Amino acid sequence: MVDRSLFSTTEFERARQQVVLALDVDTLNEATALTQLLHPYVGTIKIGLELYLSEGRQAVLALSNFDVDIFLDLKLHDIPTTVERSARVVGALGVRYLTVHTSGGEEMVRACVNGLREGASDSGHLPTIAVGVTVLTSDREAPPAELTRRSRIAKDAGCGALVCAATDLAITREFAPGLMTIVPGTRPAGVALDDQRRTMTPPEAIQRGADLLVLGRPITRANDPELAALTIVSSLI
Ligand code: C5P
Repeated sequence: MVDRSLFSTTEFERARQQVVLALDVDTLNEATALTQLLHPYVGTIKIGLELYLSEGRQAVLALSNFDVDIFLDLKLHDIPTTVERSARVVGALGVRYLTVHTSGGEEMVRACVNGLREGASDSGHLPTIAVGVTVLTSDREAPPAELTRRSRIAKDAGCGALVCAATDLAITREFAPGLMTIVPGTRPAGVALDDQRRTMTPPEAIQRGADLLVLGRPITRANDPELAALTIVSSLI
């Protein structure tokens, strides 16, 4: 059993800010209940397509009431004009992060970056950080050179962050220096891998240079989600 009082508020808060909770649910009731329970352990809440398609901007507005940043994982990929106009809407919503597929090319990703900036400035929010998705874990066809090419696209197009597997951190940090790295798929020792590949433990990923770790099922499907979240945060201190 982990005892939170062993840690100072500052060190706990620093570790908390490194954890993103993936809310892979499709109702606002479930999303709100999970956020209510777990926001003391996570700095950011990730709203995925599932929740966004069922509850829309209401989900963003409702969860923004908690002391967390909002990560909208919509993985935009379309013609640059459509991406720019959509990103402008998201920028005006005041979310902290929005994902965009770097496989869409530099012009499209730059359109996303521009749209986010315009949306934020129109509405007076902090600018949303464009997060370039490099290679999906499910994509077994992408040749190794795609990771370096897409990391460069994220950097050159003006993304502030990128998503990569823990095992790809060294390459993405070399080809997209200065960008935040966001890593899904880490698993504490002894916890089910689910469908994740290219995995390592949360502290290992942080040691290799990850800035944020995205975790879903190891917390939300645990018998005691609060204890699972506390254990993960504690392992980062
Ligand atoms: O596996 P877990 O529930 O921790 O997934 C958290 C997030 O990681 C998901 O919301 C998804 O965005 C991402 N993911 C991934 N590769 C997988 C499964 C999930 O990158 N194979």
